[in-house]
Amino acid sequence: MEEVPHPKRIFSGIQPSGNLTLGNYLGALTRFVELQNAGAETIYCLVDLHAITVRQDPDDLAHATREAAAAFIAAGIDPRRSILFNQSQVAAHAELAWIFNCVARMGWLSRMTQFKDKAGKNRENASVGLFAYPCLMAADILAYHATHVPVGEDQKQHLELTRDIAIKFNQEFRQDFFPVVEPVIEGIATRVMSLRDGTKKMSKSDPSDMSRINLTDSADLIEKKLRRARTDSDPIADSLDGLTDRPEARNLINIFAALSEQTAQNVVEIYAGSQFARFKDDLVELAVETISPITHDMKKLMEDPGEIDRILGAGAERAAAISEPILTQTFEITGLIRSRPAAIDES
Ligand code: TYM
Repeated sequence: MEEVPHPKRIFSGIQPSGNLTLGNYLGALTRFVELQNAGAETIYCLVDLHAITVRQDPDDLAHATREAAAAFIAAGIDPRRSILFNQSQVAAHAELAWIFNCVARMGWLSRMTQFKDKAGKNRENASVGLFAYPCLMAADILAYHATHVPVGEDQKQHLELTRDIAIKFNQEFRQDFFPVVEPVIEGIATRVMSLRDGTKKMSKSDPSDMSRINLTDSADLIEKKLRRARTDSDPIADSLDGLTDRPEARNLINIFAALSEQTAQNVVEIYAGSQFARFKDDLVELAVETISPITHDMKKLMEDPGEIDRILGAGAERAAAISEPILTQTFEITGLIRSRPAAIDES
């Protein structure tokens, strides 16, 4: 693997296109908090420009963006230690995305499975933004010269494309300018599955609310969803091999393992031979114990949306202070004249 000549800098993003789910929490947010607490330089972004690649109600989008910010803070992101902001407030993202639109090839983007899934059969009717989505994602990351990107498994292909864009840009302009980023896809819960179908990812866009746990769900609703979560009638096996063809069972074991910070193997050993009904009692307790304090804090934070906006604004200023000089250099390399003083200068 190519060596990254840049100092370590973490960047990641979440779309505020609806409620954040247990998948976002276990696959991404908990990792974001760990990296922050380990003392890394961390930049986290609510990618509202990505959200509008499909139709969004304006009021709902603004609400979901504030609510996602509240979720980050409630889950342990400290806006003084991490930079937390919404994408549309920092122009560098959209500006660099245009340059990357001109670097990436149609063929690369056509192969993106997320585009194929989201566009469905009627591709002609998908927005141009949905097609160019990965170029904006590359811009998010590379506008900060970020080197490491914690994400769930579903974002792997997009990060490979980010690497391809950085490499092609560097080659075309004979520069070692953009870092070749490292995906950080770690932990037990890099792919939390739907509670209704263990072969499908848990997703905020699934039409069935019963398929997911939202960070805004009440304790009663979490209990109801977990009790109704699909399983099979066999008892829990005593090894993970015994769960190979039982995706729903495996998913609940994984969720339990991630919530209790132990390995899935440990969990099956504890519950070997038990029926799922008994396991679910403990899973409900564990899930409620973890999520309810977050839901509670989110609600409190949402009582003062002005304060959330202030936090996002301050984060955007810090983010722009890092990305502006990088963008100015990118313009120079590309031959785009930028003679007005940068809005925010690092000096
Ligand atoms: P998004 O908003 O779909 O998801 C945000 C993060 O949550 C992870 N995730 C999951 N992890 C485990 N199990 C699941 N069921 C699950 N569902 C979601 C995702 O992998 C992701 O890490 N394109 C991105 C947002 C983005 C971004 C970026 C990410 C835009 N720019 C730059 C990193 C860097 C997305 O749609 O994530």
